[in-house]
Amino acid sequence: MAEAEDNISILGKEVPRRDFLIYGSTALGVAGVALTAWPFIDSMNPAADTLALATTEVDLSPIQEGQSITVKWQGKPVFVRHRTDREIELAKETDVKSLRDPQADDARVQQEPWLIVVGICTHLGCIPLGQKPGEPRGDYSGWFCPCHGSHYDTAGRIRKGPAPLNLAVPPYKFVDDTTILIG
Ligand code: FES
Repeated sequence: MAEAEDNISILGKEVPRRDFLIYGSTALGVAGVALTAWPFIDSMNPAADTLALATTEVDLSPIQEGQSITVKWQGKPVFVRHRTDREIELAKETDVKSLRDPQADDARVQQEPWLIVVGICTHLGCIPLGQKPGEPRGDYSGWFCPCHGSHYDTAGRIRKGPAPLNLAVPPYKFVDDTTILIG
């Protein structure tokens, strides 16, 4: 995705970036931000050069079980989901050998409740739905990409539709029990 443009190319068409990217956070420091009804954090629109260098620190403590937030890391949306016990169970009980892009749940998370994935469909780059309450999460309770119908599970793995790969897990680390640093 081009940083300098306000548009994004989807299937060869230029469309406003804001129509596709629901950015939830800023590139630097969201610690202490109070979350409202749904924990979306407004973008502070950091400059492109800041984005290119940034790591993104995320305070996990306000995110309730079952909720997700979207943060921005190096210009990309990153989904941070606080998984429920059932979502973890679903992810772990899946037969890995049956998957298109075989990956065990524990290879995709550092702590079971927290799934952190880049929110860009691996088919043609749309932003999957499933972050906001009421949005479709697909047949596997993760995310659904409406562009061509890709379904991702509660570990962000592709389960149905044309996408070839799981949602990417970005580099990140826990800096303490409730804070991660992406990048
Ligand atoms: S971009 Fe085609 S299914 Fe997501």
